[in-house]
Amino acid sequence: MFSDELITRLKRAQTVVALTGAGVSAESGVPTFRGENGLWKNFRPEELANFNAFIKNPKLVWEWYQWRKELVNKVKPNPGHYALVELEAMFDDFCMITQNVDDLHRKAGAKKIYELHGNIMRNRCVDCNEYTNEDDVQFAESDALPRCHCGGLLRPDVVWFGEQLPQRTLMQAFDAANRAEVFFSIGTSAVVQPAASLPIEARRAGAYVVEINFEPTVISHYVDESIIGKSGEILPKLVARLRQDRSSSEE
Ligand code: OAD
Repeated sequence: MFSDELITRLKRAQTVVALTGAGVSAESGVPTFRGENGLWKNFRPEELANFNAFIKNPKLVWEWYQWRKELVNKVKPNPGHYALVELEAMFDDFCMITQNVDDLHRKAGAKKIYELHGNIMRNRCVDCNEYTNEDDVQFAESDALPRCHCGGLLRPDVVWFGEQLPQRTLMQAFDAANRAEVFFSIGTSAVVQPAASLPIEARRAGAYVVEINFEPTVISHYVDESIIGKSGEILPKLVARLRQDRSSSEE
């Protein structure tokens, strides 16, 4: 399943980076965006995930996000998330760059995470830009929209279509891709920019790029190694393999 080249590179590597997408949370029960049962099959992004839609109908957009938050609150990290935390502990310089807003990497215990598309559990004010916690958003007792103490509308702190990604986080992600000796692209269709450029950038800068996905993607022909399968199954096997190699080299 894992090439000798990958294992050798990982044995030598200090800097390892993992870009993750919705596929990593699929085995936890969080729907992906594309594909047969993807969210964008049943919902129209332009009505729900863009700022104009929010201003036009904030209640509809909030209802959709409340539904997603409830779903995400009910699910748990899966073995793929936990394996990534184990990988984090194995390398001097390991980070995760995620397009996911579901907070599951953090819930699994990951420490260094660059969230490119925000976090569904955080909100911010459209007027003063102040962040608020989930607990500050109350819907239950009234139909009123959640508001900031300044009176402005609160919105989920996620990146919507047409919006810029958090610039500092994006810079840190590209910096990590440039430093990476091994770069994983896991559970992402790799079609949404600028995240989709990260594996390309990493390889251009000399990283060994490995894709782990349930099916081939648009970057499969470009990466050094493409491993087809579920991340929740492959990542724990990779961790076990690395542990085994480490313990036999210590004997
Ligand atoms: P997609 O829904 O586009 O792609 C999910 C990928 O995960 C697909 O390539 C699947 O084959 C793969 N997959 C599914 N289950 C898997 C499993 N168990 N193990 C491994 N791979 C699996 O999701 P993203 O690439 O994350 O942006 O989408 C990128 C962005 O598009 C999202 O962050 C979101 C969306 O519009 C915003 O909302 C800004």
